[in-house]
Amino acid sequence: TRQTGLTGLDYGFVNTASTRSAITYIDGEQGILRYRGYNIEDVAANSTFLEVAWLLIYGELPTASELADFDSRVRRHTLLHEDLKRFFDSLPHQAHPMSVLSSAVSALSTYYGDSLDPHDPEQVEISTIRLLAKLPVIAAYAHKKAIGQAFLYPDNSLGFVENFLRLNFGIMAEPYEVNPVLVKALDRLLILHEDHEQNASTSTVRLVGSTGANLFASVSAGINALSGPLHGGANEAVLDMLARIRDSGEGVERFVERVKNKEDGIKLMGFGHRVYKSYDPRAKLVKASVDAVLADLGVSNPLLEIARELEAIALADDYFVERKLYPNVDFYTGVIYKAMGFPTRMFTVLFAIGRLPGWIAHWREMNDDPATKIGRPQQLYIGSPARDWPQR
Ligand code: SDX
Repeated sequence: TRQTGLTGLDYGFVNTASTRSAITYIDGEQGILRYRGYNIEDVAANSTFLEVAWLLIYGELPTASELADFDSRVRRHTLLHEDLKRFFDSLPHQAHPMSVLSSAVSALSTYYGDSLDPHDPEQVEISTIRLLAKLPVIAAYAHKKAIGQAFLYPDNSLGFVENFLRLNFGIMAEPYEVNPVLVKALDRLLILHEDHEQNASTSTVRLVGSTGANLFASVSAGINALSGPLHGGANEAVLDMLARIRDSGEGVERFVERVKNKEDGIKLMGFGHRVYKSYDPRAKLVKASVDAVLADLGVSNPLLEIARELEAIALADDYFVERKLYPNVDFYTGVIYKAMGFPTRMFTVLFAIGRLPGWIAHWREMNDDPATKIGRPQQLYIGSPARDWPQR
């Protein structure tokens, strides 16, 4: 800077503390994603959400009895304190479910003073179980609140995903029939979201936790980071973008031209990635399954055809190819969530439920090993040099 007057920002670099982690590996050029060394393709094809949660948090695949015990502990902690249910009464029905989620998770810590000490392994363990068990219930209550329906109590005879679906789509007046197609499809989508290295929301969880803040407070901050449209909020933004193309009648080509001209700063939502400069392996897996899932669910979605046309045009256009912009995990997931019956504003909440095990795993890694803490991010000062106070 002294010689050239240029700063790191001119080259796009800002000093940030790097962190070490043993949880997830990404190769952005090759499009590789591994959870504790296992390729995402193998994990998605052979595992379940809770089994992957154990893998990410404890580092190895669980034995059958470990998984059964883990599942049982999660089921036995799904109830929310009755006072916390009244918390929802204070929120407007039009509140965005992500705001409800981060507020309720923060409120959780006011009920569990016996599990907040980050230096007590037993308290970290019970916080882990309580968050895994209660976040889906809070999410379902945010959905029910938005549509004005009564909250159901969790049914502990059901598994993790079955319970979540029933809490969202079951109603008091009728028995709820579990749809195994829906369960399998959602379990797989949740697996694809469980961790992704040092993304913005996970870095937020680590940074907040590195001050000694408890797990609930750190995860609440992570939920807020995820809500942004450039991060987890993109899956909701993709559906809004596809619907706008459909409703405007402008056609996909015209929309792509407007993106390339950066009109009103619009972006092709669900495209591009800070790390992947090739096809996001998760997007490949979602795209490969979207036809089968919609067929299994017996629904079609005209927005899927628009998404496909958009992808085909973008992947053949130099503007996107030169900038290494490919579909990311958010591009096709919304079409499936819609087919499952979730409102668009619940899409990022589904992302948060998927990402929770990763947030917990990273928080525990940071909490256990100070060498993996995100230090105080360094700053490159580019402001005014020292100057005297004006005589006035
Ligand atoms: C997630 O980090 C993670 O791992 C996140 C995540 C996870 O699992 O946690 O993978 C989940 O957040 C996926 C990303 C979801 N976001 C979106 O889909 C929103 C749309 N995408 C972009 O905003 C953007 O691609 C980013 C923020 C995701 C990544 O930006 P980059 O790669 O750092 O690129 P950039 O912002 O530096 O832009 C480089 C160029 C620019 O053009 P020029 O200045 O060179 O002319 O590419 C353009 C940008 O304008 N560009 C896009 C674009 N993304 C980048 N142009 C149009 N549409 C886009 N989507």
